[in-house]
Amino acid sequence: MEVIIQPNSEQASLLAARLVKKIIMEKKKPVLGLPTGNTPLPLYRHLVKMHREEGLDFSQVVTFNLDEYVGLSPDHPASFHYFMWKNLFSQVNIRPENVHIPDGLASDVEAYCRQYEEEIKAAGGLDIQILGLGTDGHIGFNEPTSSLKSRTRIKTLTEQTRKDNALFFGAEENVPYHAITMGIGTILEAKVCLLIAFGKKKATAIARTVEGPVTSMVPASALQFHPKAIIVVDEEAASELRLANYYQWVYDHKPEWQKV
Ligand code: GLP
Repeated sequence: MEVIIQPNSEQASLLAARLVKKIIMEKKKPVLGLPTGNTPLPLYRHLVKMHREEGLDFSQVVTFNLDEYVGLSPDHPASFHYFMWKNLFSQVNIRPENVHIPDGLASDVEAYCRQYEEEIKAAGGLDIQILGLGTDGHIGFNEPTSSLKSRTRIKTLTEQTRKDNALFFGAEENVPYHAITMGIGTILEAKVCLLIAFGKKKATAIARTVEGPVTSMVPASALQFHPKAIIVVDEEAASELRLANYYQWVYDHKPEWQKV
C-alpha cells in the first residue's frame, strides 16, 4: 500500500484528481470505477475544472459506479444516479451510454448483478477504482463481515451506515435498508485502487485499513492484498496511523518518475 498524507482535503483531492487525469490521458478507453459520498466531491470538482480549463477529454471514458440504493429511481435526489449526474457527468463530455450505475429498481436483482459484472469484464476491467471509506471501514456498501471475495450483489446496510447517510434523505427513517454494491472481489480486480478519506471521523477506519490485520470486520483492509492500492488522506484522517512519519518519508523520497 502507498499512503500519501496531504495537509488538507483540498490538496489531497487535487493530487487524487491528477492521478485520475493521468490514467484518463494514458488509456485509449479508460475505465473508471467511481464512488459517491461527500469525500469525492472536491475530486470531481477538480476533474470538471480540468475538463474546462485543460481540455481533459471524457469522450472515451467508461464508468462503473460502485453502488446504488435498492428501491430508488434514478431521479430520486438521494440516489447515486442523481448524485453522479449532478456532480460530474453533466459537467463533462462523457457519453451517456458509457456510464454504468447499478439499477436500484432492477426487478431480478441477482441476474442484474451478474450482468453488471459481465459489463465490467466486457469493458476490459477497471483501470482505476476510486473509493471512499465508511466510518466502519466499508468500501462501496460492503459492510463488515462481507466476504473478501464477494462480487456485485445486494447488501443490507448497518445501522451506522444508515445514520451516516441520513443527511441525504432528510431523516434516518427514509434511508433504504438495502443496496446493490460491487463486491470486494470485484474491487480488488481493478488495476489501481485509490482510496480517499478525510477528517478526524475517518482516522480509526484508516488506521485499521492500513495497519490493522486483514479482516472482513474492516472490509477496506482487503486492499492490503492489492498490488497497487494508493491511500490518499488528509492529516486528520492520518492522525491515528502509527507509521505516518514513515509514509511521509517514503513520499518525500519517491524517485522522480514515480511522482504524479
Ligand atoms: C457510502 C458509500 C461509500 C462511501 C461512504 C462514505 O456508504 N456507499 O461508497 O465511501 O458512504 O461517505 P462519505 O464520503 O460521505 O463519508
